[in-house]
Formats: sequence, structure tokens, C-alpha cells
Amino acid sequence: MSRKQAVLVTGASGEVGNGLIHRLAKLHQYDILALDLRDVDDETGAKCHARLVGDILDSRLLERLVSEFEIHAIFHLAALLSTRSEFTPETAHEVNVTGTMNLLKLAVEQSRSHGGRVTFLFPSSIAVYGVPSLTEKAAARPVLEHEFTEPTTMYGCNKLYCEHLGRYYARHYRQLAAETTKSGVDFRSLRFPGLISAFTVPHGGTSDYAPEMIHAAAKGEAYACFVREDSRIPFMAMPDAIDALMALMAAPADALSANVYNVTAYSPTAGELATLTRAAFPDAAIRFAPDLRRQGIVDSWPAELDDTRARRDWGFKPSYDLKRTFDEYLVPNIRARYRKA
Ligand code: SER
Repeated sequence: MSRKQAVLVTGASGEVGNGLIHRLAKLHQYDILALDLRDVDDETGAKCHARLVGDILDSRLLERLVSEFEIHAIFHLAALLSTRSEFTPETAHEVNVTGTMNLLKLAVEQSRSHGGRVTFLFPSSIAVYGVPSLTEKAAARPVLEHEFTEPTTMYGCNKLYCEHLGRYYARHYRQLAAETTKSGVDFRSLRFPGLISAFTVPHGGTSDYAPEMIHAAAKGEAYACFVREDSRIPFMAMPDAIDALMALMAAPADALSANVYNVTAYSPTAGELATLTRAAFPDAAIRFAPDLRRQGIVDSWPAELDDTRARRDWGFKPSYDLKRTFDEYLVPNIRARYRKA
């Protein structure tokens, strides 16, 4: 039986998965396999060769995938985000780390079976950073990939460790085995800042105050922002995040000097986000009611990232600055969305 090249997307129903599947479908190059605990919506499902409802911790399901499809690329997006992970750290470890190991093992098996490389795209996060104090945060230059990597959250620890696992699989797999074998896994990771989508609101993250504030204003709902007005972390518009994943996937392997790349677009304070939101939705009722513990997490993330490595190696360049994000992406799409609802 001949099998067409497939790309597997885990976390397919999530914020990034949705947009990514639509973008991948435009390539007309792969059969798309969508995997998530929740089925994808029908519009997204129509772009997929198979929609699988299941758990990345279910080894039977993964074995079935290996036997049925020829997988050449994996976008492993499934994860428990940072706030949610603090309530159930052991579950977070299972999903975020054991889940990733399962997918890396699947990638090795797939590479063995079809003899080609498996490109493994892994979204990491600003949560891998842990800046020790607000004084150091204010004094720091835009942060490079190797700086301040002592995260305070379970999610951050999970992501940082999985970056290392991926690098191990890509570069050092079974280095002492009698016959040195390459894993066949081409691991490529992006450290995303907070992401803002016009079409979905995230669940369980700590950068969620930005999208929550804007969506609440569009719906005419009051919003109590859980961080201080002067809180500053990097953000990016969802279309740029998806473009970045696609660009990193397409980059020639010999152009990549590392397995992990910072990407960023802008670093507004929560107060600046509120000002832009009020300008677009004059009735917005936003107040600041910091939750000291979630604030602590945001305070430990850098104010700005240095993404020179991504710009140099594979030409990363976001299309949306903050103004364009609001004027051309968020405001028109969010207005249309809630007008319809
Ligand atoms: N948006 C994520 C979170 O807040 C960070 O990667 O958990």
C-alpha cells in the first residue's frame, strides 16, 4: 500500500493548531493528521486527512499512527500552559514532558520506517526564562537564548527540558551505542512570547491578560486585569507565530546554527495594551486588580527578547508591529466576530 507524506499536528484544536492547519493545507503538500483531546471544528477538519481524538499519552493510539501513516513532520503543540500547570504540576509533567518523549520516540520510529528525516517543530516559550528580580528585569538588555534560564514555573521547566531532549535526539542520540545511529529527528524549536489571536482566547496561560482584555472589550464585558499596569513582557500576533513555525520548518538544515530560537515582535506594558484597547473600544471597562502570584510569574519573564539568531539564520521578521496588530488584525476581526455571535 503506498502512503502519502503526512504531517502530524498535536494540540490541533488549540489556538496555534487551528491557524497552522489552515496554513499547512494551502501548501497542498502533505496529508494533515490532526490530534487533540477535543475534535477540531468542521471547517478545520475538512482540511485534514484524518482527525484523531485522543491523548498523546496513549501509546496504542501513537502505535496506530505509526502503522497507518508515513509521517515526515510533526508540529507538537499539545501542552498544559503555565497557570494551569501550577495547579497540577505532576499532570503538567506527564503531558508536557512524557507526551513530548512519546512524540520524539514516534519520530525516531517513523524515520527508521521510511528512511527519511522527520522534522520536529516544538513551540517553546518565554516561560523558560526566570529573571530573579524586577531590578534585574529592568536593567537587562533584550535577553538571549542562554541567559536567565532558571524558570520558576513547572511549565517553564518542562519546556526547557524538552528543548534539551530535542537537542539530544537531534545531535547526540545513543552516542555510546556499538553502532552509532542517527535518530533521524530534525528538532527545531521556537520560544514564543505571549500570543494574541483575534479568533480565539487562550486557556490556562499567564500571558492571557492581553487577549482576555481585548476580547472582553469587544464583547462589552468588564475586565479585571490580573497584573499591574507597568508589567511588561513580549507579545506577538498569531499570524506571525504561524508564519514563524512555517518558516522554521522550511529553513534549510545547514542554515540553522542552533535547535532553539527566540522570536518576538513587541513588548508593551499591560497599561499600554489597555490604552490601545480603550482607543478601539471606547466603552471598554478595564481595571487593574493584580493577582500577586500570577504577577510573580509575569515579573520573572523578560521584558524583551533578543531574536537576532532567528533573524540571521532563517530570516525571521514579524509583519505586525503593535499598531498594525491592533488596527489591521485584532480590531476588525474581533469586531466582526462578536457582531456575528
Ligand atoms: N502563553 C504561555 C503562558 O502564558 C507562555 O508560553 O503560559
